[in-house]
Amino acid sequence: MKYLGAHMLEFPQHGDERGHLVIVEGQKDIPFDIKRIFYIYGSDESVVRGQHANRRTQFVLINVAGKCKVRVCDGKGNESVFLLNRPHTGIYLPCMVWKEMYDFSADSVLLCLASEHYDANEYIREYDEYLRIVDEEDK
Ligand code: TYD
Repeated sequence: MKYLGAHMLEFPQHGDERGHLVIVEGQKDIPFDIKRIFYIYGSDESVVRGQHANRRTQFVLINVAGKCKVRVCDGKGNESVFLLNRPHTGIYLPCMVWKEMYDFSADSVLLCLASEHYDANEYIREYDEYLRIVDEEDK
């Protein structure tokens, strides 16, 4: 499924009798070099995370344990919901999409791979501001 450049990724599983191994290499399995990783756990179904857009950072999100949902929208009325519930699948998020992660299972560990180091200034955290910027870019 492709949406606004956001789309699901499926990584090969290198399993044997010892268990599974999933490999994610920058510029090979995902379309950017990985400069930062972080992970989110201890959330539950009452929590909504994200609620921001990034001017410069692309992300890949992988639920390495448990599950959550990711709502992605473009500020122009288009929206899609992705379910992350398998350790060998992920979602690719380009710059400038608004995203929310929610419906976390209690055992969820959400691994986030990012194309840039952290820079608070490239996060847009106000939805009204995001809409204004999208609108400006469209002109
Ligand atoms: P936040 O962006 O709200 O998390 P999420 O989008 O996953 O819900 O980040 C929570 C706090 O952590 C916020 O104060 C910013 C800080 N933070 C960093 O310092 N570096 C990082 O790489 C990230 C992702 C967050």
